[in-house]
Amino acid sequence: MTLGGITAGSAIGGMLLIPHAPTPASAGVAAADDGGGHTGHGQAAGGHFTVGTPFTQRMPVPRELTPRTRSGVDTFTIPIQPAQAEFVPGQPTPVRTYAGQFVGPTIRAKTGRPVRITFTNQLTGPTNVHLHGGHVPHDSDGYPMDLIAPGASRDYDYPNNQQGATLWYHDHAHGLEAENVYLGLHGFYIVEDDAERALNLPSGPYDVPIMLRDALLDENGQLVYTVHPPERTTILANGVVTPHFPVARRKYRFRFLNSATERVFRLKIGGVDMTQIASDGGLLPAPVPRSELVLGSAERADVVIDFSQVAIGTQLVLYDVSGAVLRFDVTRDADDRSRVPATLRPLPSLAAAAVDRVLSMKFDLSGPEPIGLINGQTFDPNRVDFQVKRGSTEIWELHNDDVELGIPHTFHVHLEQFRVLDRGGKPPSLDDAGRKDTVFLAPGEPVRIQVKFTDYLGKYLYHCHYLEHSVHGMMGQVEIVE
Ligand code: C2O
Ligand code: CU
Ligand code: CU
Repeated sequence: MTLGGITAGSAIGGMLLIPHAPTPASAGVAAADDGGGHTGHGQAAGGHFTVGTPFTQRMPVPRELTPRTRSGVDTFTIPIQPAQAEFVPGQPTPVRTYAGQFVGPTIRAKTGRPVRITFTNQLTGPTNVHLHGGHVPHDSDGYPMDLIAPGASRDYDYPNNQQGATLWYHDHAHGLEAENVYLGLHGFYIVEDDAERALNLPSGPYDVPIMLRDALLDENGQLVYTVHPPERTTILANGVVTPHFPVARRKYRFRFLNSATERVFRLKIGGVDMTQIASDGGLLPAPVPRSELVLGSAERADVVIDFSQVAIGTQLVLYDVSGAVLRFDVTRDADDRSRVPATLRPLPSLAAAAVDRVLSMKFDLSGPEPIGLINGQTFDPNRVDFQVKRGSTEIWELHNDDVELGIPHTFHVHLEQFRVLDRGGKPPSLDDAGRKDTVFLAPGEPVRIQVKFTDYLGKYLYHCHYLEHSVHGMMGQVEIVE
C-alpha cells in the first residue's frame, strides 16, 4: 500500500487548497523515536510549534453516558455546544463539542435494544449527527441536507439491530463536516451483544476506546482549522497531546479509531504483542497477531494487548510513522480472568453477487475550486446515482484514479458493512479483514468489496472519508428499494 507523498493543490486567492496527501511531511520519519520529542512535528509549512513535553498528560477515557430512561428504549440527551479545550495546559482554545467534551461522551448500546438520542444544537451554525457504521433508518442517518438548525433539537433513533462493534458518531452537515469534525464533533458509540460478552474478552475498565487524530495548534495552543491537512502535525489520543496511560499487568482491549479527517496512522508498539480481534463492524473470525496496524480516516481496529509479562515500571510507546502517539506505563498488578478465545465470530457466508459496479474516485483540479468526483460526477442531493434492491448482493469495484496526483482516499458506505474481496488483484490486506465500512484506497489500486443491504429503504451515502474531499463533493448516493 503506497501512501503517495505527492501533494497537489490549486491556488485560490493565493492560498494552497486541498487536496493533499495525508502525511507527506512525516512519511520519511523513522518510527524509532525514543520518546524524547515530537519527531516529525514542526516539519510541515507553518507547523513550527512543538507542543509541550510528551507523555506528561494522562490520557482520559471519555465519560460514558448513563441513559436518562430505560423503559424499553435507552434515551440520552446530548447538547452540541461550544466549549474550551486545553491542548496546551493554561491555553484554552474554542472547540465544538458533544456535551462539552472534545471527545464526546461514549454511548454503550446493546444489540436489539433501541437508543434514542436527543441532540440540541447550541452552536451558531447548522449541524447534524451521523452514526458511522450504524444500521439506521434514513431519517436518523444524518443525511447531509437534513440539518439541526441553531437552537433546534432533534431525536435520532438507533435500533441497534446489529452485532457488537466500535462505531462512532460525528457531524455530517453538508460542506461543514470536515471543519465540524476537526473542531471536535466526534464521539464513540459502542454496540455490545451477549454472545460477545460471553467470550469474556477484557471488559469494564480494561475495555478502552482510543480516538486518534491530528491537530494544528498555533503558538498560543489554539486549535486551527486550515484547508492544508499536512500542517496538522500534533497527534491527539482521546483529545490529549501524546499522553501516557497507566495500565495494569494484564490484558486490555483497546478500540482504536482514526477520527482524523485526512490521515493514515501506521501504529507499532515494541515489547508487547498486539492481537487484533475486531475491525469496523465487529469481531473477526479469529484473533490476528499484528506487528503494525494501519488505519485510514474513519477506520477502527480493536486490539488486545497483554501487559502481564511486562515488569512494573516499564514504559511502552505506541508509535505512528510520524512519531510517538501514546505511552503505556505499567504501574500495577491486577487480576485477569479475561481471555482471547481461538475463535471469535465466523463471518456470514458470501452469497452470489447479482450486480457488479465500478465506483471511481478522482479530483478535478482544472477549475478555481477542487471538485471531488465519483464516476465523473460530483455530489448532488437531487440525484440518485443508482438503486439497489434490498436483499440483493453486489460487488463494487472501487478505484482511486488520482494516480497522477498521488492522493489517497478512503471509501465509506453508510448503512451496511461489507467484505473486502481483493485489493490490487491480490488477497485483501490484514487491515481489510472482517466486516468493514471504510477502506483505504491507494492511487491506482482497485479494491473489490461485496455488499448486501438488508435493512432500511431510502437514500444513503457513499463517499470519501477524507472529509476535506467529501466537502468538495466526492460523495454519491445509493437508494435502497424494495
Ligand atoms: Cu463517518 Cu458519511 O460518514
Ligand atoms: Cu457513515
Ligand atoms: Cu478522498
